[in-house]
Amino acid sequence: MNILLATQNKRKIEEITAILSSLSSINIIIPSQSLDIPEGDRSYIENALLKAKAWSKLYPDHYILADDSGLEVFALDNAPGVISAEYAGKNATHQEHIDKLLLALTDITNRSALFISYILLLSPQQEIFFSRGECYGNITTKQSGNKGFGYDPIFAPLQFNNQQTLADLTPEQKNSISHRYKALTGLKDYLQYIKV
Ligand code: IMP
Repeated sequence: MNILLATQNKRKIEEITAILSSLSSINIIIPSQSLDIPEGDRSYIENALLKAKAWSKLYPDHYILADDSGLEVFALDNAPGVISAEYAGKNATHQEHIDKLLLALTDITNRSALFISYILLLSPQQEIFFSRGECYGNITTKQSGNKGFGYDPIFAPLQFNNQQTLADLTPEQKNSISHRYKALTGLKDYLQYIKV
């Protein structure tokens, strides 16, 4: 089965291909061209479907795998959430998103947060499968680590006792607990179910 990844985010591609590498029956295709898909503030699932449908038009014979994800902070009414990629502005850097979030949490002691990933598979017949994964933790007061991407340097997952951020972990460690790993586990079960 050929599955096209509906993303140009290099880090997401690395994580998704590593997590799915145990499935010998699928062939993951990374698109060579880029596609500008405005996300806006729709829901994760709508954004994922939008991405999948746009790529499906270009690759009608392929299964399309889309991921939409975000970081939700309890004390900020679940912001930045679905607009995580544009929290500090459309063209802002990861560092600017991090700075804005740390500033918003100044003097706030409840720093509970979770990452959410929706994984959506669209078949050539336009049938939809989706699954959701979460990773719970806390926003740190200072950033740490240089691995991963996005908000990883300020997110300390519960599984590592709030001692390390996702950016301190090895890719293997992050890929064994992450929101993306959990959502992709649902997809792996589904692929077994449909006998891929
Ligand atoms: P989107 O899924 O392309 O809309 O992007 C979601 C945004 O959430 C990314 O640009 C990151 O800023 C953030 N994000 C999603 N997953 C992760 C992750 O695993 N680590 C760090 N940040 C993430």
